[in-house]
Amino acid sequence: MNYENILTVSQNGLTTITINRPSKLNALNKVTIEELHNAFDAADKDAETKVIIITGAGDKAFVAGADISEFANFSVENGGKLAANGQELLFDFVENLSTPVIAAVNGFALGGGLELAMAAHFRVASDNAKMGLPEVSLGVIPGYGGTQRLPQLVGKGRAMELVMTAGMIDAKTAKDYGLVNHVVSQEELIPLAEKIASKIKRNSSVAISKAIKAVNANYKDGINGFDVEIEQFGNCFGTEDFKEGTTAFLEKRKADFPGK
Ligand code: COA
Repeated sequence: MNYENILTVSQNGLTTITINRPSKLNALNKVTIEELHNAFDAADKDAETKVIIITGAGDKAFVAGADISEFANFSVENGGKLAANGQELLFDFVENLSTPVIAAVNGFALGGGLELAMAAHFRVASDNAKMGLPEVSLGVIPGYGGTQRLPQLVGKGRAMELVMTAGMIDAKTAKDYGLVNHVVSQEELIPLAEKIASKIKRNSSVAISKAIKAVNANYKDGINGFDVEIEQFGNCFGTEDFKEGTTAFLEKRKADFPGK
């Protein structure tokens, strides 16, 4: 598929989606959000794709936020719709994908950029990365899940400080906070994400999709995560991957998962 603002490359079980508006620091406008939705959806439905990496083009930014020029004149109603549509199309959508999503944060991840990175299943960053939720400096609040996911990842006090100060933290602080798992140089960033992806690819994609559901259940209101875990654990026993995984272990060979 041809996109205006993103690039996608699929090979060896990995789909890399690159937000490609470097002149605007990859800011998320409406078209980009729609294209990202379509690209994530296509990758998730593609049986060959076992892992998705999301990153930004250029060496300066992952994503410098929602495109401010698009919402500067919005009404209360339009503002609410902007957040609701974005959350449904992209942020909640990514978090709940069956396919693991790694955010490779290669520079500024601000506002909607940090929110996108936080919607991914985990994050790695380059040492020049800068992260923050600067919305209150514009007179708004984070609207793409930032007020919910940041406290989940770094704790309430740190999240409150970051939101209230509209400040940025560097990659080292982000790692200390548990916001990103690893920090490497810019050149090493994509190779590191690919190395982690190749470890994930060796495992059962069906089991991984059920594990994502179970982990996410911990963060959903009114849902008992332990019950979801029990259900998903049980479901694994009906899969071909489970048969292959356990048989391969007992036969002392490497599993070759059918992904079913
Ligand atoms: N929305 C729209 N355009 C954006 C943008 C955003 N969130 N972030 C950056 N851009 C654009 C700039 O307007 C500029 O475009 P121009 O060259 O046509 O004027 C271009 O990207 C480069 O940005 P610039 O500000 O010149 O780069 P810088 O290195 O001086 O500053 C930042 C980098 C990230 C500190 C600065 O761009 C910034 O503060 N961006 C907004 C961050 C933000 O508030 N995000 C939350 C939005 S809710």
